[in-house]
Amino acid sequence: MTSLTGKVAVITGGNSGIGLATAKLFAAEGARVVITGRRQQVVDAAVAEIGAAAIGIRGDVADVGHHRQVAEIVRERFGGADIYVANAGVNSIAPSQQVSEAEYDAQFAINTRGTFFGVQAIAPLLRDNGAIILVGSLASDKVLDGHAVYAGTKAAIQAFARSWALEFRDRGIRVNMLSPGPTETAILEKLGIAPEDREGFVGKMASAIPLGRLGRPEELARAALFLASDAGSFVTGINLRVDGGMALI
Ligand SMILES: NC(=O)c1ccc[n+]([C@@H]2O[C@H](COP(=O)([O-])OP(=O)(O)OC[C@H]3O[C@@H](n4cnc5c(N)ncnc54)[C@H](OP(=O)(O)O)[C@@H]3O)[C@@H](O)[C@H]2O)c1
Repeated sequence: MTSLTGKVAVITGGNSGIGLATAKLFAAEGARVVITGRRQQVVDAAVAEIGAAAIGIRGDVADVGHHRQVAEIVRERFGGADIYVANAGVNSIAPSQQVSEAEYDAQFAINTRGTFFGVQAIAPLLRDNGAIILVGSLASDKVLDGHAVYAGTKAAIQAFARSWALEFRDRGIRVNMLSPGPTETAILEKLGIAPEDREGFVGKMASAIPLGRLGRPEELARAALFLASDAGSFVTGINLRVDGGMALI
């Protein structure tokens, strides 16, 4: 029997990178998956890639109404859910003196507010002994140049995870944080680094990682499966860093 047979998993930002790899693995492990993202075509392509076990919902996690719509669709289609992965997120690197109000607000609206109200909307539908996974970042533990705002958005999520691990304990719902280190996804193209500088930037990051390379989305997906499945049945309130050891140096 696969580890997620009969389970329903909702994965925000499941149309790309870590979210898509997680959705594919969860489906392979027997779950039905609901993915979200803002780009309809990318959502549709991801659903096709995942297969019959998936449905896609277009929307913006910064919009509380979107979360209510997701919850309504999950209620109608599946009667509830077992796993919620708050994965959707953005990052733009800039020294603090150059951060505009708009950039600051956008990162907090998506990464932090989006996570909070996503969990608030789905929580009444989560079945007992379910699992909530919040995708954070190594950046909330290790200072990275130009990441002050991003780190702040993810540090707030860490506090949410610890609070919710206690708030949801009576229903046996486990809440954990999954903190990737630098991982080979499309986010590396959205950091505001000039294309000609990107290779150098990635090379510099890889040299700062004890395992000598960036992570792969599949490696984060396997960690998410551990937290979502019975394999992690006695794990709640932790911050699982999957970063090739980068936080050590
Ligand atoms: N890759 C890394 O090095 C790394 C390191 C640490 C943490 N992380 C975290 O890992 C998570 C996944 O990122 P990734 O690396 O897989 O990057 P990615 O490939 O860019 O995926 C991000 C996903 O989030 C979705 N998204 C972004 N803003 C959204 C919004 N407002 N509403 C709905 N969906 C939204 C994107 O879809 P649309 O654009 O279609 O909306 C996309 O599917 C993020 O939370 C990120 O902060 C990544």
